[in-house]
Amino acid sequence: MNMAKDKTACVTGTDRGVGLALVKHLLHAGYTVFAGGIMKENEETDRLAQQFPGMLHAFVLDVGSDRSVKEAADFIKSKTGRLDLLINNAAILGDTNNTIEDDIDFDEVQRVYNVTAVGAIRMSNALIRPIMNGGKLIVNISSEAGSIGQSYREAWFGYCMAKAALNMGSAIIHNKIRKNGGRVILLHPGWVKSYMRGTFDAAATYTPEEAAANIMRRIEEYKDEIREKPVYIEADTGKELTW
Ligand SMILES: NC(=O)c1ccc[n+]([C@@H]2O[C@H](COP(=O)([O-])OP(=O)(O)OC[C@H]3O[C@@H](n4cnc5c(N)ncnc54)[C@H](OP(=O)(O)O)[C@@H]3O)[C@@H](O)[C@H]2O)c1
Repeated sequence: MNMAKDKTACVTGTDRGVGLALVKHLLHAGYTVFAGGIMKENEETDRLAQQFPGMLHAFVLDVGSDRSVKEAADFIKSKTGRLDLLINNAAILGDTNNTIEDDIDFDEVQRVYNVTAVGAIRMSNALIRPIMNGGKLIVNISSEAGSIGQSYREAWFGYCMAKAALNMGSAIIHNKIRKNGGRVILLHPGWVKSYMRGTFDAAATYTPEEAAANIMRRIEEYKDEIREKPVYIEADTGKELTW
């Protein structure tokens, strides 16, 4: 399978879950992959690096830190002048119980915002040159939780506000780069069996591998469309989400 020969991708949040599954998927599709996760040791990426010699560059990345993102971007730029695809997947959930009538931990709300919303903008900013020299494509893993039009939750302040902000940041990037053939795609992966809630979410609909396959299918489907606003859809059903 060599359809992506010589293509390069960067994925964030690759310790486990959807991010790790995306790395596997991209490697099998022939991409050279830059994978940033916060764990220093990761047996899975070590194993993949052996299985795909020279194709996986795994590094420690905290998308919440200016310095870490700059170091990661310098590392990537030392290896390649062009990126075909950046997938901003890293996120944290934070509290999902406290309503406006409870004690909200605002330090945590800001931590969630810094990682889940600003992280993707930080990465896009640090890598914009190789992106625009390459595939001009940024995919931000958003959520239905970021839709204001479809909002129904009474809690989840940090996460929902951060995903709505991620959507706005994506629109601002898209407004600029689409004039030069660039685009941002916003994908909701569906409900995924991952550790995002702290424990394994066995009740969820999709395995990370299934979610990654849906994400890659939608990227293929929409990558050449340059609309006025970013495409914002459910990766499983293809249905458009309300902003
Ligand atoms: N699970 C769902 O049902 C669902 C629904 C809608 C949207 N999403 C979105 O899908 C994406 C993937 O989520 P997931 O379900 O695969 O959950 P996950 O396993 O928790 O994935 C998030 C990844 O981001 C990493 N991460 C956390 N903070 C980071 C930081 N500061 N810098 C770099 N990486 C960091 C996590 O590392 P550690 O695991 O080591 O902390 C983890 O590998 C997220 O954007 C999430 O918001 C998920």
